[in-house]
Amino acid sequence: MSFRHLTQFDDLSMEDWDALYQQTSDIMEHPEAYTDACHGKVSCNLFYEPSTRTNFSFQTAMMRLGGNVFGFADPNSSSVSKGESLKDTIKMVSGYADVIVLRSPKEGAAKAASLYSDVPVINAGDGGHMHPTQTLTDLTTIMHLRGSLDDMCIGLCGDLKNGRTVHSLVTALARFKNIKFYLISPRELAIPRYMIDYMNAHNMRHVEVTNLDAVMPQLDVLYMTRIQKERFTDMAAYERNRGVYILTANKMEHAKKSLLVMHPLPRVNEIAVEVDDDPRAVYFKQARYGMFARMSLLKTLASRPRIEPDPVAIGELPVCHNSRCITQTELYLPPLTEEIVGKECCAYCGHEIYPMENIADEDV
Ligand code: NCD
Repeated sequence: MSFRHLTQFDDLSMEDWDALYQQTSDIMEHPEAYTDACHGKVSCNLFYEPSTRTNFSFQTAMMRLGGNVFGFADPNSSSVSKGESLKDTIKMVSGYADVIVLRSPKEGAAKAASLYSDVPVINAGDGGHMHPTQTLTDLTTIMHLRGSLDDMCIGLCGDLKNGRTVHSLVTALARFKNIKFYLISPRELAIPRYMIDYMNAHNMRHVEVTNLDAVMPQLDVLYMTRIQKERFTDMAAYERNRGVYILTANKMEHAKKSLLVMHPLPRVNEIAVEVDDDPRAVYFKQARYGMFARMSLLKTLASRPRIEPDPVAIGELPVCHNSRCITQTELYLPPLTEEIVGKECCAYCGHEIYPMENIADEDV
C-alpha cells in the first residue's frame, strides 16, 4: 500500500482498498495477533466538530493496536480558541504524533493539513464534503455481510445535499460493477450537481426520487441518513424537512429478505426504534466494523516514515467561492485547483471554480 494521506477515498487505489479490506478481515478474525501492531505509536485526534462514533472508534482502534492517543474533542479547549491557524496546529502536532486524525466543519481541511504535516493525515469528516473512513466502514460492512460490492441496487435516503458520508460512498462505488442508485431525498436536499456530474462521467446508473416506499422492494442496501441540522443556514428549511423520511417496521415488510439497512449514525428519528430488532438492520454492527476498518488503516499509516513536506506557495486571495471551503478562512493556503470530470475544481473542497458572475446566492 503506497498512499500516504487519506483525505478522500480516491487517494486509495483498488489494490490499496483490497489490501486494507483483507487486513480488516484478518483483524476481525484474529484480533489477538494485532495487540502490539502499533506499540510505541501515537495518534493525534483533532476534532473541530462534534463526534461520538468516529472519535471513539479511532481512539479504541489505536488502543487495541497497543498505541496511544492524544488530542481534543472540542477546539475551545485548545489554542485554536486563541486564533491559532490550522497550519500552525498541524506543524506543531505533527512533531508529536505518528499520524493525525482530523475532523473539521471546513471543507478541504484535511487536504490543507496534509500540505504541512510530517506524518500521514486522515480525514475524519470535512464539512459536507467527504468522510472516507466512514466509507471504509460502509464498504467493509457490505463486503462482510453480502460478500460483494458488485451487482446491487442501493437506496441513499435523506439529506443527500449535506451528507458527506453519501458523497464519499458514491465516489467509492464508482469502482464497482453494475450498481444502481436510487437517490431518495426531498427536492431541496437533492445530491449536489457535482455529484451527479461525477456519476454521469463514471456511467453510474442513478434515479432521483422523493418517495421511499415506491423503491423499497427493489433495494439490496438502504443507506439512511439524518437531516444535517448544523449545515442549514435557513432553519425554516430544516423544519420543513425534518422527519420527512421515517423507516418503520411497516415499510420493512415491503423490502427484500436480504436487505441491509445501514446508517452512519447518529440517528435522530429517521429509523423508528422498532426496526432495530429486525435482522436486516445492521447499523450497530456497521459501527463496530468501522473500528476494525480504522485499525487496519492506522496500522498501515502510523508506521510510515516521517517526511518533511516540500514548502508550498503562500496564497493571497481564495479562488474557490464555496463559503465553507477551508481556503476562505485560512488565507495563506495556496490556491490549488484540479480537473474533476473535465471541470476546473478547487483541490481542497472539490467545488467547481467558476467566474464571479455565475455564483448563485447560496454559494457565497
Ligand atoms: C456522520 C458524520 O459525521 O458525517 N457520522 C459519523 O461519522 N458516523 C453522519 C452524521 O453526522 O449524520
